[in-house]
Amino acid sequence: MTKVIIVYATDYGSTKKMAEVIAEGVRLVEGANCVLKPAEETSAEDLISSDAVIFGSPVHMGSLDWRMKKFFDSVCSGLWMKDTLNGKVGAVFVTAGGFGGTGSGAELTMLSMLANIAELGMIMVPLPKNTPGYTNGGLHWGPCARTATGAMEQTGFSGEMTEVARNHGIHVARIALELAGKKLFTG
Ligand SMILES: Cc1cc2nc3c(=O)[nH]c(=O)nc-3n(C[C@H](O)[C@H](O)[C@H](O)COP(=O)(O)O)c2cc1C
Repeated sequence: MTKVIIVYATDYGSTKKMAEVIAEGVRLVEGANCVLKPAEETSAEDLISSDAVIFGSPVHMGSLDWRMKKFFDSVCSGLWMKDTLNGKVGAVFVTAGGFGGTGSGAELTMLSMLANIAELGMIMVPLPKNTPGYTNGGLHWGPCARTATGAMEQTGFSGEMTEVARNHGIHVARIALELAGKKLFTG
């Protein structure tokens, strides 16, 4: 069984809800299973025993949630030292309240996590623009769910954003299934 873990942080539940929908997508792929864990409860062993890791963060002050940052700096950095996650699959998603027309910080948050994925020697899975549901929350780095209106009315993780999230899970699981157990990098 190919194992995908989703590591996320949340305060108000939107990022967790999105993680659950991505997990549904993973489980639609035969041969793949999925576990979800808050960053504070995720251990090095959880990552080592997984074939793919999907990292999810709310946008906070234009950037990464501090619990995700702590997780990268503490749990992941020890694995970086030993090249333990080399060749595993990595992907990202975010939720963002936004403010005004475009919101702020979603790409930077994704890029922060993707930089960690690259540093860990993982293989990044992006979000192709023909992914079903892409027009509701798709970014080429991964799905981004907007959880408030431009006037900051809280809408949460709503139905129209589920399709792209679910399909992101499907993509990651399919690729992880193909690559699981293969030694792709020398060293
Ligand atoms: C401390 C804090 C800072 C935030 N900063 C931003 C921000 O810079 N840009 C943005 O688009 N949303 C921002 N938000 C809104 C959250 O990203 C949004 O509500 C998110 O969906 C919350 O996820 P959660 O329900 O999983 O906690 C902020 C929220 C909090 C609590």
